[in-house]
Amino acid sequence: MEEMLRSSSVGLITRQKEPTNLETPFDQVDSFLTPTELFYIRSHFPTPKLETASYRLHVDGAVRNPFSLSYKDLRDMPSDTRVATLECAGNSRVFLIPQVEGAQWELGAVGNAEWTGVPLRTLLERAGMEEDACEVVLEGADRGTPKEPPIPPGPISYARSLPRAKALQQEVLIAYQMNGRDLPEDHGYPVRAIVPGHYGMASVKWLTHIHSVRAPFQGYWQTSDYGYWDYLDGNPVRRALAEMKLKSEIARPRVYETLVPNQVYTIFGAAWAGETDVTEIAVSTDGGQTWADAQFLDPIQRHAWRRWKFDWLTPEKPGRYILIARAKTADGSVQPDKHDQNYGSYVINHPLPIEVFVSDTSGTL
Ligand code: MTE
Repeated sequence: MEEMLRSSSVGLITRQKEPTNLETPFDQVDSFLTPTELFYIRSHFPTPKLETASYRLHVDGAVRNPFSLSYKDLRDMPSDTRVATLECAGNSRVFLIPQVEGAQWELGAVGNAEWTGVPLRTLLERAGMEEDACEVVLEGADRGTPKEPPIPPGPISYARSLPRAKALQQEVLIAYQMNGRDLPEDHGYPVRAIVPGHYGMASVKWLTHIHSVRAPFQGYWQTSDYGYWDYLDGNPVRRALAEMKLKSEIARPRVYETLVPNQVYTIFGAAWAGETDVTEIAVSTDGGQTWADAQFLDPIQRHAWRRWKFDWLTPEKPGRYILIARAKTADGSVQPDKHDQNYGSYVINHPLPIEVFVSDTSGTL
């Protein structure tokens, strides 16, 4: 077995030391796959120390044949490898005005990696998921007491459910590798879920239990946290966040970067959408008054981001310029103009303004 990769914080931006919350410096994104050592880490509790020798994954609940697997059993099963973008639902929170509580993620609580594992579907078929089971709860080995109210009476583990239809899609993986190497500790070693198309909170790390359930799961991370307000017959109801929303981000230039006038600067970024495909990117270099199409660098690949670029001839006139990128999908939907308050401090997918400066010819402003 390959030696376990320990994640290091070299190159990542520290948002919180303990539990580990580290952000990708988004201006350094170059490649289609985010290198593992630059992939953001978002953990609610201290990283649990799990050993492959004693590791067990339990599949039970509303199933005909509950069973458990060792790490080796899982590794011996037929596997799939697929690319998926994970974005934390709180990514870009720093752009909210006025400022809100929570880790002040900038642009880098998102990454794109290649994951290898066994489809969850295979395990649910083997267990014989009951017809009337509506969700599958994924539970991790990490435990603690969340800080945000309502605070549960005692320590809880990190657990999230998936609707039956999503859980049975071939793309949902019980993964043990990331970018061709065993998962690093902070990314869920030895085994985690990968739920392509959903915000990162669905991809439960340090996975030890898969429970099939007959009633919607109302756990903390499903209702108190990672929930939003929807409306049912005019009444607000709490629902769990799920699919990632359409979003584009500018990686370069950085906020407040100074550029040379009258010279081609290549604006570079990435765009993604949960369960649909990004087909167009428009860029504005004048705060949204005029728009031009950007060029994609990656083809459409379901659940993976598409990098893009736009060659901008910088103005001769020195001053402050606002760059914005806006993505569109094949069905014509675009990013919303502003953040939807019903999502609280999550789902920040409106086009994010990047303010830059163009210097005078001498290189000073
Ligand atoms: N799984 C467990 N067990 N505990 C956690 O705190 N955080 C979730 C998810 N899975 C979390 C978890 C959140 S909010 C995100 S965004 C992703 O893991 C981040 O995955 P990463 O740290 O590998 O980037």
